[in-house]
Amino acid sequence: MIKIGCLDFPRLSLAPLAGISDLPFRMLNRSYGCRFAFTEMVSARSLTYQSRQTIRMVSTACADRPLGIQLLAEDGDVLQRALAMLSENVYEMVNLNAACPVEKVTKKGEGAALMKNPSKLASLLRVMARNSSLPVTVKIRSGWEEKSVNARDVALYAQDAGVHGVFIHGRTREQRYAGAVDYGVIRRIKEALDIPVIASGDALSPPLIKRMFDETGCDGVTIARGALGNPWIFRETETFLETGEIPSRPALQELMQVMTSHLDMCCDFYGGTAGTTLFRKFYSWYTKGLPGVKPLRETAFHASTREQMVRLIRQVEEAAASAGPGGSLSPTAPGTR
Ligand SMILES: Cc1cc2nc3c(=O)[nH]c(=O)nc-3n(C[C@H](O)[C@H](O)[C@H](O)COP(=O)(O)O)c2cc1C
Repeated sequence: MIKIGCLDFPRLSLAPLAGISDLPFRMLNRSYGCRFAFTEMVSARSLTYQSRQTIRMVSTACADRPLGIQLLAEDGDVLQRALAMLSENVYEMVNLNAACPVEKVTKKGEGAALMKNPSKLASLLRVMARNSSLPVTVKIRSGWEEKSVNARDVALYAQDAGVHGVFIHGRTREQRYAGAVDYGVIRRIKEALDIPVIASGDALSPPLIKRMFDETGCDGVTIARGALGNPWIFRETETFLETGEIPSRPALQELMQVMTSHLDMCCDFYGGTAGTTLFRKFYSWYTKGLPGVKPLRETAFHASTREQMVRLIRQVEEAAASAGPGGSLSPTAPGTR
């Protein structure tokens, strides 16, 4: 365990994923070994309005612990008001997003735009450090673009502002989610900082996660796309880090059970139609790389009732069996399949 402020934080955590890391997704990953999860990013301003959508985005349950909340902000007063609304009994950490590359966010001066304005970022972090009794962390990128990679300086500013840990996605805003991860910049941050450094980027399989630890010396890795349709990644990675062995992938039966419980959780949380619609993308992620399922995936994108989706889940085994030998998932994570 790593100490982030007063919090015991595991070396593997579930990263914030907008539109994905809702309560059902977090709970499913927790039941397969995830020991710390984040909400998706929420706007501090929307939090102060308490809109229905925002309340749903940050809603949680007793078993959904420990949990970090991630905020988007560019205004210190709004941030302070949002922090005042967070119950200390619900979240264990508050994280400021200075990494989101989406235009809609950056044009407001939020997310990765803060990489271009380190003094503004530092002032927001000081507001957080002063007004939160929870451990405060920040998520940054390696820089705005290739010619302005400044993550080490930004991380030092953040440390001086009083944050307890730095999360770093080793890509620039310009790269979005593609292209090579800059392991060197993460290593330089780790060497410069006294507080924990948690790395992000291509954490898609146990060997890639080990590579992140080995090449950067980071204290922890936060898993994002590697967990899509793949809650097994947490235990598989722990085993790989301890023994060098990758456990065999789950059998199709287990995959189908997990898909069904995830679907049920989505339907309980959002209602049958909305839950099924939301699950469509998960159907695709869970079945990625399986032989013979392409037509099922296409059909799943039109499923609108739980019963239709359950039928499509049941057909996975038959489709995979008639397409050829198999019976278990491919040995790599979805992002690498
Ligand atoms: C669909 C999607 C949504 C994301 N949403 C967030 C978010 O809300 N907050 C955040 O800090 N990062 C977000 N990220 C970035 C991830 O947390 C992670 O840093 C990034 O995907 C790099 O890790 P990976 O290459 O292992 O996926 C998102 C990424 C994706 C693909």
